[in-house]
Amino acid sequence: MNFPLPPNSTIGIVGGGQLGRMSAMAAARLGYRCHILTQEEDSPAAQVAAGTTIGDYEHPATLRAFADAVDVITFEFENVSVEGLDLLASLKPVRPSPAVLRVSQDRIVEKSFLNSAGVATAPWRRLSTMAELEAAVAEIGLPAVLKTTRLGYDGKGQAMLRRPEDLAPGFATLYPKPLILEGFVDFAMEISVVVARGTDGTTTAFDAVENRHRHHILDLTLAPARLSEEAAEQARVIAVRVAQAVDLVGVLAVEMFVDRAGRIVANEIAPRPHNSGHWTIDACPASQFELHIRAIAGLPLPPATRHSDAVMKNLVGPEEAALWPEILATPGLIPHLYGKTEARPGRKMGHVTRLFPKGALPGEFGVTAALGPAASREAVDPT
Ligand SMILES: Nc1ncnc2c1ncn2[C@@H]1O[C@H](COP(=O)(O)OP(=O)(O)O)[C@@H](O)[C@H]1O
Ligand SMILES: [Mg+2]
Repeated sequence: MNFPLPPNSTIGIVGGGQLGRMSAMAAARLGYRCHILTQEEDSPAAQVAAGTTIGDYEHPATLRAFADAVDVITFEFENVSVEGLDLLASLKPVRPSPAVLRVSQDRIVEKSFLNSAGVATAPWRRLSTMAELEAAVAEIGLPAVLKTTRLGYDGKGQAMLRRPEDLAPGFATLYPKPLILEGFVDFAMEISVVVARGTDGTTTAFDAVENRHRHHILDLTLAPARLSEEAAEQARVIAVRVAQAVDLVGVLAVEMFVDRAGRIVANEIAPRPHNSGHWTIDACPASQFELHIRAIAGLPLPPATRHSDAVMKNLVGPEEAALWPEILATPGLIPHLYGKTEARPGRKMGHVTRLFPKGALPGEFGVTAALGPAASREAVDPT
């Protein structure tokens, strides 16, 4: 394939969710077509794409048919097997490379990689037996978080260990999967940085943003994070270092904790556009999705600058999906809906963005007021 990818070329996206949908919309604006690989009929991404292959991510014939239909391949869904990815990579360029996905698929590989790239994390230990858990707790101390090494998302596959009595039940809920124990970070703030890197090594990072979770699901993102200039810069430096160390082509997000002493430790990386970067669609000249498409297409990468401050609120589950008419009727709320027909509890149905002049992001009460009908009560209560 020739790069830069000429207009009207076809970008293959593995995964049919909202990240694929918003990537396909950014690709369309740049004159590209997208072809989606998904297991689902009528997926959010397929609704806005030129073509779709529906089938099993592990099925070689499905992967071949998909690769045949596209010029370059990317993914918005991370849990494709290494074998499946290697097959795709033997047929068409896969960006970011399967090696990047391998790092993020396994928390042990991920944390080892971060530490070897000079990025601090919470202390961690690999384990697979109760005796190893006891030994790990003796070294790391409590509280600590026990997690499956693979396939966790939105807090699934985790057990919080506060007291010695929590070890056995926590272990029992996650056993027999390979596990990792992490020291609990008593964070003052959760932040993330989305960084983009092009085929020529050009690297650019959006400002660090502040993330609030509710029931382990991202609820609010405040852009920029309310950090000192030094801390904000340190967060971006970490993200850039990660992007360079994995030889990224595309975008990735680094999730980080800022502890009470103001130190930043990395938690995990996601080698794709990230929920905490959705605000960039409305507040930046080039969004995370545009930068991702530009990077994988070999186009020039503009800097990840922001023209406005922003708050992004996820619309999760049937309760928040039901706010849609009120949101549409509220001037200043920028609405995004993902085309999912079924609003199951915990499912991300859409999001809204509210912009503020640069430097004018309000405090807690201002954010709540600005979100109007979309504001969630717990969102502004940090306890
Ligand atoms: N070591 C930790 N210390 C404190 N909080 C944690 C720790 N690990 C996870 N958490 C909390 O749980 C959330 C989800 O954990 P994470 O590792 O990001 O898994 P995933 O997003 O894959 O479910 C984090 O955003 C954070 O709020
Ligand atoms: Mg996470």
